[in-house]
Amino acid sequence: MVKRIITYGTFDLFHIGHVRLLKRLRALGDELYVGCATDAFNKMKDKSSIIPFEERVEVLSACRYVDYVFPEENWEQKPSDIEGFGAHVFGIGDDWEGKFDYLSKHCEVIYLSRTDEVSTTQLIQYVQCIPKR
Ligand code: CTP
Repeated sequence: MVKRIITYGTFDLFHIGHVRLLKRLRALGDELYVGCATDAFNKMKDKSSIIPFEERVEVLSACRYVDYVFPEENWEQKPSDIEGFGAHVFGIGDDWEGKFDYLSKHCEVIYLSRTDEVSTTQLIQYVQCIPKR
């Protein structure tokens, strides 16, 4: 039986924290499915990304730890995604600790520790501080 892992995120300005999370998730099973937040979903959350959805999907799909990328369009889709894809484990960084416990009706729920001192927000702040030449 193929053990399928599922996760979700925006994955803007793909960085080392993303790579390490995806690598550890993939190591939990045989296939890693990633729900990538659409630009419209980010807008619903009052967020925006630098890199547009189609390109974030292309970058994620090029990552060796990722087997399949699909759109994350709303908060409610996770139970039906888990059932539809037959995912055995839902995993995500521990900045979401406890927030997805309700999914344990559908599959195992795991929170992984984040990589220290890197985030999309931090990268944007860093780049904004570089003086223009
Ligand atoms: N993640 C991680 N380590 C980091 C940054 C992110 O493990 N240093 C994980 C998150 O916990 C999440 C996934 O990567 O499971 C996608 O996170 P995302 O929100 O897209 O990235 P962030 O860098 O956290 O973005 P932001 O600063 O906009 O919150």
